Amino acid sequence: MNRPVMAANWKMNNGPTTAREFMQTFLAQYPRQNDRTILFFPPTLSMAAVAAALGDRRDILLGVQNVHWADQGAFTGELSVGMVRDAGARVVLVGHSERRHVFGETLDQTALKCAAVERGGLTPMLCVGETLEQREAGRAADVVIEQLRAGFSMMTQLATKDVMVAYEPVWAIGTGHTATADDASRMHRVLRAELIALCGDRARTTPILYGGSVNAANAPELVAAREVDGLLVGGASVDVGSWLAVARA
Ligand code: PGA
Repeated sequence: MNRPVMAANWKMNNGPTTAREFMQTFLAQYPRQNDRTILFFPPTLSMAAVAAALGDRRDILLGVQNVHWADQGAFTGELSVGMVRDAGARVVLVGHSERRHVFGETLDQTALKCAAVERGGLTPMLCVGETLEQREAGRAADVVIEQLRAGFSMMTQLATKDVMVAYEPVWAIGTGHTATADDASRMHRVLRAELIALCGDRARTTPILYGGSVNAANAPELVAAREVDGLLVGGASVDVGSWLAVARA
């Protein structure tokens, strides 16, 4: 079994000053652990502060919440994979539900972004998840499979490059409604089977994280669920006290 990946998605919280203070407290209370991988997705503006605080703590990975798919050019307000790699990112979130549902990111755009991340030598963490309406219509598995296939469709080295997946049911994100451990396991099994079809046997060890209203109380059961290889945590990762509790789950 893989080491679980415990990922903090700060979203639009924790600017550089707060991030620096957060990391000082976190690192002082979180010694190197070999049984899990910690991954931070700070706002890109706070990456330098987080990277500086991490120093030689290579047990902790750094990622970004979004990139543009072009290598450079006239895209005001956007950042390329090369830039975030230069700033220390190793992992890129693609297709987070807020990108899809608030900013209208399309399946094609998730494909372009995963391909750009691959080209740039970083690891995409593709987020998939169904809405409540889709779940109630019995379409949850179809929706996440479509998002998975589309997101990875333009990568050319899927059989050899590392990828990560996060299952985040839209109805569970920031709502306080968490999927049960059984719900999560069931969908992760669907995703695993599809990943094996896409990437071959190496997908047996591809990390598939669960996300959606994870907190210190429910994290131990969720991370222990079958087929769940880690957690992607929003709200409960923003405050250092609650993140320490989740990260230690
Ligand atoms: P949440 O967010 O933990 O606040 O539900 C999870 C996510 O969106 O990654």
